[in-house]
Amino acid sequence: MLQKNFFTPKQIVKELDKYIIGQNDAKRNVSIALRNRWRRLQTPEDIQKDIVPNNILMIGPTGVGKTEIARRLADVAKAPFTKVEASKFTEVGYVGRDVESMVRDLVRQGVKMVEEEKKKEIREKAEETVDERILDILIPPIKKPVGKAESAFSQVEESPEEEYDLNVKTRERFREKLKNRELEERKIEIDVQNQAAPGMGFVGGGMDEVSMMNIQEMISGMMPKKAKKRKVSVKDARKILVEEELAKLIDMEEVKEESIQRVENLGIIFIDEIDKVAGHSSKGSGPDVSREGVQRDLLPIVEGSTVNTKYGVVKTDHILFIAAGAFHVAKPSDLIPELQGRFPIRVELESLTQKDFHRILKTPKNALTKQYAALLQAEEVEIEFSDSSLEVIAEMAFKINEEIENIGARRLHTVMSTLLNEILYDVPDSITPGTKLSITPEMVRNKLSKMVENRDLSQFIL
Ligand SMILES: Nc1ncnc2c1ncn2[C@@H]1O[C@H](COP(=O)(O)OP(=O)(O)OP(=O)(O)O)[C@@H](O)[C@H]1O
Ligand SMILES: [Mg+2]
Repeated sequence: MLQKNFFTPKQIVKELDKYIIGQNDAKRNVSIALRNRWRRLQTPEDIQKDIVPNNILMIGPTGVGKTEIARRLADVAKAPFTKVEASKFTEVGYVGRDVESMVRDLVRQGVKMVEEEKKKEIREKAEETVDERILDILIPPIKKPVGKAESAFSQVEESPEEEYDLNVKTRERFREKLKNRELEERKIEIDVQNQAAPGMGFVGGGMDEVSMMNIQEMISGMMPKKAKKRKVSVKDARKILVEEELAKLIDMEEVKEESIQRVENLGIIFIDEIDKVAGHSSKGSGPDVSREGVQRDLLPIVEGSTVNTKYGVVKTDHILFIAAGAFHVAKPSDLIPELQGRFPIRVELESLTQKDFHRILKTPKNALTKQYAALLQAEEVEIEFSDSSLEVIAEMAFKINEEIENIGARRLHTVMSTLLNEILYDVPDSITPGTKLSITPEMVRNKLSKMVENRDLSQFIL
């Protein structure tokens, strides 16, 4: 299940570096935690079950990369990942506080992941089978004639042998054309399996999610599957039939089993805004009681318990939990002791500097400047940001954060979209394909300075 040569901590950091600027301490710690899970799986079984994950508490202001680090970490590990806001469990009207739902979410991610991987493995084979099926529709095969039974009409018509040979040759030609995607637009008629939808809305009166899902599944299993004839292009037929074929070839039981295993050993649950549920009942009443309640509900899942899901029972003992919060008001020590103990690794994320902003604009694999360039490239317009223009963008974003509200690197998104708004509107009408644009510091200043000066305006726009 795990790669033999899993990333070393240094390699994990290197992968994270492709997307996240700075935050070296956080990167280091998550990479150790990730590698430790791999190490655990290499240990003898009797000790394996005792090694608990190094759950991590990330502390840092908004928009500095907490969520981004966790998400990218999951990508690196090919681990099922889900994110939940702890504060949602305190919402008024939120009954039952179904904290187990985060585990079910994680399993859903795991199943999706494993299913995709399996499909990828057999896709080629499925496509071949489907092309044969399409060929049968285009040029139905005829049976090879047996013996030399003389037909009474043999002088007027082609002999069965000739007819058969012709059929084989034509099919061969069409097979080739199909393969070369030369018949994509031709219309054919196919049978499409159409599952009759149950179309019943359950009001979950006292029923938990699992039993509700089971009932829905049972009902849809009882519904007859209807085949419907549809006229579609070869291209669409291939898509539909390949999906059908893949579903037929995939062993869902195997997928479920593997997914559960992967979730149990590799899953990562990111609990955001944990600081919003910090508080002991001993220190107050009202909201604190409900906050502590959420912590008490989270505890068994983080400590290790079993959760029923649609795909089977999941043990949460070795799931990696990463909790995060700004902890401006509450402190980590305001969490109940049991929960504090479950998050032994504390990492502080630093506020980003203007220099960091500059780098975030240009170096990450998914840097905003690269994203916008790609968008405009779709219209055959080239855009280039001079380095000094990026410096000005970083400077302005930093200033706005200081003056209005510090939202971290998220500010770069709002600033960039304001800066490029006009261009994005003018392409391709007045800025036509083939144009090369280059953004200069002057342009940035012109566009943004008016807003920076006008505090009221910038509050709304930037
Ligand atoms: N260190 C960083 N390097 C690169 N990009 C970053 C960094 N920090 C933040 N970003 C960018 O800012 C966006 C928001 O960051 P992220 O979601 O990680 O914030 P957060 O720390 O989780 O904040 P919050 O406490 O509000 O949840 C990211 O999508 C990313 O584009
Ligand atoms: Mg976040």
